[in-house]
Amino acid sequence: MLKEKMVESLNTQMNAELYSAYLYLSMEAYFEANDLSGFANWMRVQAQEEMTHAMKFYDYLVQRGARVILTEIKSPPTEWDSPKATFEHVYEHEQMVTGLIDKLVDLAISLSDHATNNFLQWYVAEQVEEEESSSGVLQKVKLAGDSTSGLLMLDQELAQRVFTPPLTTK
Ligand code: FEO
Repeated sequence: MLKEKMVESLNTQMNAELYSAYLYLSMEAYFEANDLSGFANWMRVQAQEEMTHAMKFYDYLVQRGARVILTEIKSPPTEWDSPKATFEHVYEHEQMVTGLIDKLVDLAISLSDHATNNFLQWYVAEQVEEEESSSGVLQKVKLAGDSTSGLLMLDQELAQRVFTPPLTTK
């Protein structure tokens, strides 16, 4: 049985993952409004991934007989100064999420909750990928600089990203 503090913290992280989905959907809308549909596609896929992150927490709580509590999701920003500023935000956000996951692991360890620690290791590995993919795009946006053709080429590349649903969310 999960300890109360663990249930509360897992629900909080589920909300943070839902906020991440919200944030990336807002970035998608920003790119759509600026005619960069490839960048928008990348954000749509990112938001879909965040929903799977949230649902993994949801399913784990249910599996452990704990209560899922859905709470208010704060409004994300709606405007960014440029594609570069947007991806700087994505990269910073993912580093922040990594910190949240690390704190959850610390909590699980402090409570001797080995099952939750084991569950959280999926997120530890996932955050390595999240930071790598967001910083990778950020580097390319920086390389494109003020070049419109460079940005459009990158837009075409980002249009290729496809969401692959996990075989199971559990
Ligand atoms: Fe759910 Fe992008 O971390």
